[in-house]
Amino acid sequence: MSAPQREKWNSSLGFILAAAGSAIGLGNIWRFPYITGKNGGGSFVLLYLGIVLLVGLPIMYLELALGRSTGKGPVGAIASVAPKSLWKFLGYLAVITGIGILSFYGVVAGWTVYYFFKSFISGFTPGQSGNVFGSFVTSGSKQIIFMGIFMGLTTGVVVMGVKGGIEKLSTVLMPVLLVLMLGLIIYAMTLPKAMSGLKFYLVPTSAGFTKTTFIYALGQAFFSLSLGMGAMLTYGSYLQKKENILRAGLIVVIFDTAIALMAGFIIFPVLGGAPAAAGPGLVFVVITDLFSVLPGGRIIAMAFFAMLAIAALTSTISLLEVAASYLIDEHKMKRPAAALTVGAITFCVGIPSALSLGASKFLSNIGSFAGRSWGFLDIFDYVFGNLSLAIGGMLLVVFVLWKWKLQHAEEEIFANSKAGPWVKYVLRPLTIFVAPAAVALVIGFLLFTGKTLS
Ligand code: PHE
Repeated sequence: MSAPQREKWNSSLGFILAAAGSAIGLGNIWRFPYITGKNGGGSFVLLYLGIVLLVGLPIMYLELALGRSTGKGPVGAIASVAPKSLWKFLGYLAVITGIGILSFYGVVAGWTVYYFFKSFISGFTPGQSGNVFGSFVTSGSKQIIFMGIFMGLTTGVVVMGVKGGIEKLSTVLMPVLLVLMLGLIIYAMTLPKAMSGLKFYLVPTSAGFTKTTFIYALGQAFFSLSLGMGAMLTYGSYLQKKENILRAGLIVVIFDTAIALMAGFIIFPVLGGAPAAAGPGLVFVVITDLFSVLPGGRIIAMAFFAMLAIAALTSTISLLEVAASYLIDEHKMKRPAAALTVGAITFCVGIPSALSLGASKFLSNIGSFAGRSWGFLDIFDYVFGNLSLAIGGMLLVVFVLWKWKLQHAEEEIFANSKAGPWVKYVLRPLTIFVAPAAVALVIGFLLFTGKTLS
């Protein structure tokens, strides 16, 4: 079933850094602290950790296993297990979801580049961050230009290939990300409000903790671990047979979760408590405003936005790689042509999102639903960033259990591992019952409440 000439990761560490790079992104550094703030601080953190282990990890294993066993991306992998069946639409869903997420993620990723340069060139005036943000997001040309810059960077890395582009870049950037984060944590701890921020972050309370908190934690785990759209499946398809999936998958999950937790150790000490603003405002307005009055704030802001940009880039390349590898494998395109095609398509699909933050009245407010107004970017986030990931993840589990068979998945996951049989007996019920049930809950919530998870 495997394609012998397929490009492979150079080393286990290279794979781990690339997969962790995909997982670690805006989802960890921006979304996690904000959702934690909204959902009860410390109690949410505990719940999140449980869900990552019980639901995220088993699905991560299934994606990696199916990818490595077939040596293909989502479309090819499904075709090699169930040729000529309707399941192929699950593969196409994955490719489309990757483009869909990248199209709006690229807009926000572009902000990190703008903010990095702005910190470098002029810095921020205290009290002005709200205005700066407002005039930036409502400028259609700036939104398109910075999204385009980010899409160009992403495409460039994917053109350079799995080993020469993705692995090399991740091997350099992930340690830089770690160093930047550690530096920022140390700095954040010296701030006057650090202790009250940490108390909110770490001491479980019941405030904000509701029935739906559970759903938010699940959705966050999915998005953060890059599950449900074939990114991990595709990265798994470049894994050598000698690698140990049981160990590598666990390290990636721990790494991703550790970075999310570390982001909280930066954001909450800076804020000194629960975040007052929701959504993008948290990082781009509140934090920027705070940096502008702190000693050395300009350098700190540069480090902070460099960190966000790096995290975003190693995620966007995995989003682009899924569709590019589809064109390479299934349509025999050359890698540069495939990457450029997907990059160009995604850039065009991203334009309406870029214009939906105030530049275009129509795109910024397409309609009202579930008690709020929806712009183009909100709709894409809901459809691709929330719903489609959950549906894709659910169908993937069903596909593996029903078509591919759990036994094949287990052979792949446990190959090269010395783990005792008990690991299998713990993992099995999680894969068969817990993970699908949990994901079904998310799908129900999204469809019946019309709320998003962010
Ligand atoms: N995991 C990435 C993040 O946390 C986002 C992502 C989702 C990347 C799905 C790939 C696939 O930012």
